[in-house]
Amino acid sequence: CSYLQDKDRKTICDILCNGLARQEYRGYDSAGIGIDGDKPGEMMFFKEVGKVAGLRKKIAEASVDTSKTFLSQVSIAHTRWATHGPPSIANCHPLKSDPKAEFTVVHNGIVTNAAALRLLLQKRGFRFESETDTEAVAILTKYIYDSQPDKRISFPDLIKTVLKELEGSFAFVFKSCHYPNEVVTARRGSPLLIGVKTEKKLKVDFVDVEFAGPEGDAKSLDALAPTSPGGLLAPPSAGPNLLRTQSRAFMSEDGMPQPIEFFVASDASAIIEHTKRVLYLEDDDIAHIAEGELHIHRLRRNDGDGPQVATHRMIETLEIELAEIMKGKFDHFMQKEIYEQPESVVNTMRGRVNFDQNVITLGGLRAYLPIIRRGRRIVFCACGTSYHSAIATRAIFEELTEIPVSVELASDFLDRKTPIFRDDVCVFVSQSGETADTILALRYCLERGALCVGIVNTVGSTISRETHCGVHINAGPEIGVASTKAYTSQYIALLMVALQLSEDRLSLMNRRTQIIEGLHALPGQIRKVLDNDKSLQDLATGVLANQRSLLLMGRGYQYATCLEGALKIKEISYMHSEGILAGELKHGPLALIDENMPVIIIMTQDSLYPKVQSAFSQITARKAQPIVVCNENDDAIPKGVKTIRVPKTVDCLQGILNIIPLQLLSYHLAVRNGFDVDFPRNLAKSVTTE
Ligand code: G6P
Repeated sequence: CSYLQDKDRKTICDILCNGLARQEYRGYDSAGIGIDGDKPGEMMFFKEVGKVAGLRKKIAEASVDTSKTFLSQVSIAHTRWATHGPPSIANCHPLKSDPKAEFTVVHNGIVTNAAALRLLLQKRGFRFESETDTEAVAILTKYIYDSQPDKRISFPDLIKTVLKELEGSFAFVFKSCHYPNEVVTARRGSPLLIGVKTEKKLKVDFVDVEFAGPEGDAKSLDALAPTSPGGLLAPPSAGPNLLRTQSRAFMSEDGMPQPIEFFVASDASAIIEHTKRVLYLEDDDIAHIAEGELHIHRLRRNDGDGPQVATHRMIETLEIELAEIMKGKFDHFMQKEIYEQPESVVNTMRGRVNFDQNVITLGGLRAYLPIIRRGRRIVFCACGTSYHSAIATRAIFEELTEIPVSVELASDFLDRKTPIFRDDVCVFVSQSGETADTILALRYCLERGALCVGIVNTVGSTISRETHCGVHINAGPEIGVASTKAYTSQYIALLMVALQLSEDRLSLMNRRTQIIEGLHALPGQIRKVLDNDKSLQDLATGVLANQRSLLLMGRGYQYATCLEGALKIKEISYMHSEGILAGELKHGPLALIDENMPVIIIMTQDSLYPKVQSAFSQITARKAQPIVVCNENDDAIPKGVKTIRVPKTVDCLQGILNIIPLQLLSYHLAVRNGFDVDFPRNLAKSVTTE
């Protein structure tokens, strides 16, 4: 959403579409925008199924006056990843309350009581045009507004009443013809930030938060009885609902109010080209933008129950550059991100690893180290690739810290209502910091008093803010839906945590030195792996082309590599692929093996090498022709066997070098099959719904 000043319609549409294109990795089933029409109070919508490029085309082909200029304009836009109803124009956001679009809404997340609301509103005569939960919210807003006899309720108060009726997770933007040039945006569970753009330096760099007062609290729908058989709700008492805000207007340093623009988005990448000054909203914040001012309201008071909420929101300056989120010379973001790994791993270690003295310093954890060391166990909790990074480093955690470690998939962890205690240390690994299941697991552990540690890429994300302490992996923005550089950086960040936790253990000094030296050599070794790209492309277009299935086998440290490699392959090339623990081979997977089943076996030289060799023999005895991932100098691999050679490093780091050829392989398989590498069907980068 943007609140812009003095812009023509073409510029407004371009700003919205550019922002959407950068957010496309969050959802790309359909895209739409809603902007002011020619007459006051009128709105124009452009919607298209598929990608933002299609939407741009539709706008360009529409016969609208693109030169019309607006003194100030609120416009909203959205890319959708379907949760209720298939991708279609009708289900595409923005969604409106009625044909005249008295209220227009865009929404991320899921309103879980939408079906009940829909029923209630249908009974009261409202008609729905979409299958979405979002439309129920737009109509509910109109319903509550219409029930006000004098229509004097302020926009934020109206939205407060609406939000009280909603269950689930959301980030919303509301626009209305009844409140021209105003916008209200609110979040609970889904990310939301506001970019602030001014020509001059701001006098204040924070915004005060106004809490709902005891009697100023808007009444909930439940408390409102129908007034007539027709069923309109009784109005909430208008007086106390009209809260006066204490928040500050923006002024330049010379004390003069100044022209100001606001950009609301779920991710900084959408707005970075306009401003780097952003303010992150917290759950239950309701932000109101009007007349060049930003006011933040809270749904509830800061009272004795529950955690106290900060009374202001800081405006932070982002450090990412636009170039970092552009494709540059690469064909796809995923390819660019694979190739960035020599630098991204350095960025993860930068300022944290002292290679001269073999010392690790993780500033975000320092104060908590004694508590972690005293913890009775470490519980990792994550989803997808982030889960695999925890599996990959579990053994080194156990070895270096001697604390029992368990690794949990966040959804399963919640389903089981796993027992968690005050002396547990729970580590939440997430690239985005916004994965709904991981956030819910975090809140579950916070409630039970465990120490919660975040290993997160996105600064300012929910997990990074709600954990007690943690490490930012600093891999830079990751756009490709299939995670690549975030995996290797999570891996290193977790390893650094284990190294730091064991810094006082003399018996482990040699082991620690060996690992830290391994870290030092890693960027150069990653470059060597990338140099082999052509041979991986040949595999993808040769023996592996047209295959329907692929098994990846390994054990020990390489089990995680198999799981992650298989995930990459299925995510973007849509080929069935399975990561198999070689130790389990005889317990089932061996039945799949014959001369037609493609297998990749990971056989780099560590203490389990002989056992993997035996798995190799068992499958070749059954006529499999495995491709072997092995070390450069390994001459024990029988002649004629296809190999993917990688440099040798310390056992616990080898998984970083071994995953990169599999990332490249999955990339080439997808390109060969003509699939959309960065936006695989049905998947989203940030899964912000349960
Ligand atoms: C989605 C993405 C994966 C990612 C997973 C967890 O499934 O497609 O690439 O690994 O979410 O995301 P997180 O941001 O928590 O690491």
